[in-house]
Formats: sequence, C-alpha cells, structure tokens
Amino acid sequence: MVAQIDNEIVGHILLTKIQIIGNEIYDSLALAPMAVLPEFQNHQIGSALVRAGLKKAKDLKFKSVIVLGHKNYYPKFGFQKASNWQIKCPFEVPDEAFMAIELIKNGLENISGIVQYPKAFD
Ligand SMILES: CC(C)(COP(=O)(O)OP(=O)(O)OC[C@H]1O[C@@H](n2cnc3c(N)ncnc32)[C@H](O)[C@@H]1OP(=O)(O)O)[C@@H](O)C(=O)NCCC(=O)NCCS
Repeated sequence: MVAQIDNEIVGHILLTKIQIIGNEIYDSLALAPMAVLPEFQNHQIGSALVRAGLKKAKDLKFKSVIVLGHKNYYPKFGFQKASNWQIKCPFEVPDEAFMAIELIKNGLENISGIVQYPKAFD
C-alpha cells in the first residue's frame, strides 16, 4: 500500500508472507518493508500505513503479523514481544525489537517456532 499526497507517493508498506517453523508450519506476515520519505516523517503517515496494513491483513484472514522494529514504535499498534509466544527471529536481535500481533483473538495460540523470511530478506 502507498500513502499519497497531491499525487506524490510519500510512503509505502508491504506485508510479506512468512512462515513460522515449529512443530508445524504456520503462515503469517511480516510487516516489512515500510518507509516514509524523510521530509514527510513524523506526521503520522507511518502510523496510518501500519493501521491500514493491519486492517487489510485481517480482512484477508491472516491471523498474525510479525515485525522487527523499534520497541517504542510498534507497541502502540498492539505489537508485543514475539518471545511471549516463543516465536524467534532467525538471526540475533534484541528481544524487545522482535514483535508480533494477533489480528484475531488467540491468533497465535499454540504457535511457536522460528520465523522464515523469503530469500529477498537475506
Ligand atoms: C519508521 C517510519 C516509517 C515512521 O514513519 P513516520 O510517518 O515518521 O511515523 P509516524 O509519524 O506515524 O510516527 C512518528 C513517531 O515514531 C517515532 N519514530 C519515527 N521513526 C522512528 C524510528 N526509526 N525508530 C523509533 N521511533 C521512530 C517518532 O519519534 C514519533 O514518535 P511519537 O509518535 O511518539 O511522537 C519512518 O521513520 C521511516 O521511513 N524510517 C526509515 C525506514 C525505516 O526505518 N523503516 C522501518 C523498518 S522496521
């Protein structure tokens, strides 16, 4: 999805399909990549993109979203530490920077494992 002002694209968000590899393989989404043009940052455009992205994901029946990002930015949308569900990042990151959100009640119930990103993220 993109954010547009006067026909100029000023921000974008993509929710990328990922899998959580545990006892079973679970489909989920990663909130990445996202960016807002520097001169348009801090005007809630990023927040609008996150909210619109999460709504779209829910409408498409996804149950959860993972994000690797700043611990002060994402909790306001409802993200919590992914370690609360024993969901791990495939590379070393600070625990509080790797987060997840349930789009429906118990959307991550009994789901744990290591997130597998697509090759493009390598
Ligand atoms: C992260 C990003 C998309 C946020 O977009 P934005 O439109 O500026 O965000 P908003 O205006 O909705 O939110 C601004 C808030 O986020 C905080 N913030 C912005 N960028 C941040 C960052 N990189 N790390 C931590 N906090 C950040 C601001 O301090 C502000 O806090 P406040 O609401 O408490 O005042 C934008 O800063 C960006 O494009 N950064 C470079 C690319 C990037 O880091 N993408 C995210 C990858 S996970």
